This record gives sequence, structure tokens and C-alpha cells, in this order.
Amino acid sequence: MPRKCKLNPAAAGAAQTCAGRRQEGLLRMADKRKRNIIIFDTTLRDGEQAPGAGLTGSEKLEIAQQLVRLGVDVIEAGFPISSPGDFQAVQLIARRVSGATICGLARSLHKDIDTAAEALQAARRQRIHVFLATSKIHMKYKLKKAEAEIVKLAVQAVSYARQFTDDVQFSPEDASRTEPDFLFRVVEAVIKAGAATVNIPDTVGYAQPDEFGALIGALCDKVPNINRAVIAVHCHNDLGLAVANSLAAVKNGAGQVECTINGIGERAGNAALEELVLSLNTRADAFPGIATAIRTREIYKTSRLVSKLTGFVVPPNKAIVGGNAFRHESGIHQDGVLKERRTYEIIRPEDVGFTGENLVLGKHSGRHALAQRLREMGFDLPEEQLQNAFGRFKALADKKKEVFEEDLVSIVEEQLQELPLVWRLESVEFCGGTHIQPRATVRLRKQNKAVSAQSSGDGPVDACYRAVEKTIKVNAALLEYAIQAATAGKDAMGVVTVKLGIAGQEISGRGTSTDIIEASVKAYLNAINRHLCRCAAKQRVCL
Ligand code: KIV
Ligand code: ZN
Repeated sequence: MPRKCKLNPAAAGAAQTCAGRRQEGLLRMADKRKRNIIIFDTTLRDGEQAPGAGLTGSEKLEIAQQLVRLGVDVIEAGFPISSPGDFQAVQLIARRVSGATICGLARSLHKDIDTAAEALQAARRQRIHVFLATSKIHMKYKLKKAEAEIVKLAVQAVSYARQFTDDVQFSPEDASRTEPDFLFRVVEAVIKAGAATVNIPDTVGYAQPDEFGALIGALCDKVPNINRAVIAVHCHNDLGLAVANSLAAVKNGAGQVECTINGIGERAGNAALEELVLSLNTRADAFPGIATAIRTREIYKTSRLVSKLTGFVVPPNKAIVGGNAFRHESGIHQDGVLKERRTYEIIRPEDVGFTGENLVLGKHSGRHALAQRLREMGFDLPEEQLQNAFGRFKALADKKKEVFEEDLVSIVEEQLQELPLVWRLESVEFCGGTHIQPRATVRLRKQNKAVSAQSSGDGPVDACYRAVEKTIKVNAALLEYAIQAATAGKDAMGVVTVKLGIAGQEISGRGTSTDIIEASVKAYLNAINRHLCRCAAKQRVCL
């Protein structure tokens, strides 16, 4: 039974935003009134489309809850028709997450829209996002449809979606390569059919900032009913211009930007939320009167969470959230920063929640000190989890002289793992050297059953992975392996991320330990456990 949502904040906001933009056209950027840019986060949909980023339902929920703490306005939780797992994840988020509009993607087909509406039904604020390609190349080769038919299908899809909610968003896919006059016609028609938001995607990351900005300006000038909708933009990063294009669009009247944490997404990814927001805040002089609801102090933690759960390591030189983003190496720079921070820093690390490498605790620190420090870092653990984290902290403090905040984050991340660990690592032993063939013995436990196996290999990691495979009898191909030190120093925690190919699927895993071989085995097991959990969820069997 179609359900119509009474609350329609997007539509109300749309009128204001467009009116604001029109005014702005007249007043240019001198207008000092606040214009709120809607932050539409698509980490869980476009971000999750990145090869190997597959997230379980509970992982998506954990990220969605953090996105609410971060202050995003809309969470695109998934593409419900794409798989039963994605349907369940969107439904879970719709049921459990409040504080943001929950959005589901649908092609311009009744079955997609029905499925999205069903998945979103429990959401307090829901949005259905329908899309249909409008560029010549997509219409000719992919859809094999002429312009008139595309307009008809887009209008029908929006009208159909409006039966379920007033908050309908339409995207003319590949808009930046669409004939402008045809784009204006489609946009006008879908607004007339009831779209509260029209999203202009640069689907293949082809646009240049000046031309993309001009396209948004032209939409504002040429589409007669544009004041009745919010203009959104969704930029891909194939030429490294996703953020620049989105900012150009904001300057020309876009009221919503679509983005992902750490910029993950299809191919080269999407515009990175942290880069967009920090540009708007740091260069407020270039964006007068423009604001977002983002709590920037949550950025670093959100970035870490997404990196951990997707298995995508954040490059050290990544803007805002990379490990080196606030580190000064050159003597001249260090000297400058010590004399006056602003000589070489345009952003205060603490403003994005980056607390750096402060020494926080040692082996004599107690449980209260740990709890207090974790709270300051934004982790309020329940008693049982705190106790467990304290045990891990003590074990680490015994091994390491200095425990840094980054180490604590690793401890808590392991602690917060919601996956039932099907197989746990009990022990790993290995030997190797210049003239010795590497050999490993791995002992694993699954509930009351402990099993072990031995293997040789090309190196210690290979030997361990072969031993794990013998033990569990899983056939996994190692597609990617990366190791990073969580902090500086020889005794730093090693963070290993792997991507495995199992049964035709790519799946990521992550493990941490001061011993990098142990971290490697943990990462491998983490990926296998995630695979087993997914299979069990599909077959509804108890592991
Ligand atoms: O890149 C794109 O065009 C998309 C649409 C579905 C908005 O992701
Ligand atoms: Zn996209």
C-alpha cells in the first residue's frame, strides 16, 4: 500500500534554497544571509559500489549512526533492489537511524521504486532517489531510447515515487554530457511531476569547474520552475576535480552536494565530504553566507571508521584525513609552526578531530584514565566493552613503552567489531630466514573446537595463509595486501588490510597487532569470517 509522507522538509527547504539562489544571482556573493548547503552522504551507496568495499548490514548501520553524529542531512543508505543484503541494510538503517533523512536509490522502474519504498518504510524522514540517463551516448547504446521516451519515463518514475513520499529526488544520469537544452527540458518536466530535488551528476568525472558551474547557473536561468526544487550535484573524481566541480556548483546556486567519506566510490570515487566542508569553512571568504550542519570534530573518527570497515587505507597525503595532513617535516616549516601555527597550517587539526600523536597513557595508567581518555576521543564504551578494552590496553602497554591515541583507536576498533568472529586466532608460530624455507603453524578456534595446521610458503605471510586455508578449508585468493604502522616508532601497532577473492566475491579484512605476522593472519581471518557471515545470512544458517 503506497504510503505518503506528510513531512516534507526537503520540499520546504527547496523553495527557500532556490529563492535564495535567485536572490544571490542578483546580489552576487555579497549577500550576507546564510544559505545552508544540504550534505547528502552517499558513502553507503556510491561509496560501497567501489570494488571490494562490500559492507555487511551491521557495518552499514554503524557508519550510518556515525554519519548522524557527523551531522549529515541525508544518508543514501543503499540501492535496495540491487541485492537482498542491500535491501535489508537499508531497512535496518531506516528502522534504527533517526536524525537524518534516509534515502534509497531506484532506477526509473516500478519494481525498483516499490522495493526502495518498502525498505524505507520505517524511516522518520525518507527520500526516494530515482535516476535515468539523459546523455546521447547513454540513451543510444545503453537504453536504446529516444529523447521523448526518456522524458516520459522520468516523469512517470517521479510521479510513481511521489505516491510513497513527497521527498523524491531525480538524477539525469551523465547530466554533464547531456545536451543542455534537453537537460533543461527533463529537469523542468520532473519538477512539474513532483521532484523536490534535481541532482546533476557528473557521472564520469568529465566536467571542468568553470563549465560545470556555468551549467548550474544556466539551469537556474533557463528552467522556469527551478525555484520549486533544490539543485544538487554529484561529482565523480576521474580527473581529480570532483571537489572543485562541486564547489563551482555551490557558487552558482547548488543547494545540495553529494559526497562520500574519504572520497570513496565508483572508479576514482566521489567528492570527499571532508574536503568539501573544510573548503567551505576555511575559505568562508570565498563562500560568503554559506553554511553546513557538519560537526567537523567528528570528521577524523568517521574517516577512520569508514577506512576500517571498507578496508580502504587512507593515503598519508590525503587532504584533511591523511596521516601526514598535519605533520611538518622540514625544519623551516617546524620552526615556523612553533613560532606561529598559521605560518604553515590553514586548518587546526583539533577542528577535524585529529589529535595527532600525543602520548596519552602508559602501563601504569588505570581503567578510569583509559575511560576518560576514550570519552575525550568520542568513544563512550559500555562497561563490559570498556573492561575488555582495558585488558587489551594493558597487554599492549606491557609490549610498548608508549601508547598513542592511534593505538587506542585500533584497540577500540577491534573491540567494536560487531561481526561474530566465527574463527578466532589462538596462536601463530613461524620460522624463516635467508636460507630457511618459511614455515608456519596456525591454531584457530571456533567455539569449542580448536584446530591447527602447518604449511610452508614463499614467505612467512604466505606460509601462515596457507596454514589458515588448510585449517578452515576455504579457497581464497589474496588480491591485495597492505601494511601500515598505526603510529611512529619501532614498536608501533601494525595495521594490515587485505582484499580476498572468495567464491567470485571480493571481500576486505583488517587486523592489528604489534606483531605484523599476527596482524596479517588476523586480517585474513577477518575477511574469511565476513565471507562466512554473509553466506550464513544468505542461507539463514547459524554458524
Ligand atoms: O554517478 C551517478 O550518476 C550516480 C547516479 C545514480 C546519481 O551515481
Ligand atoms: Zn555516482
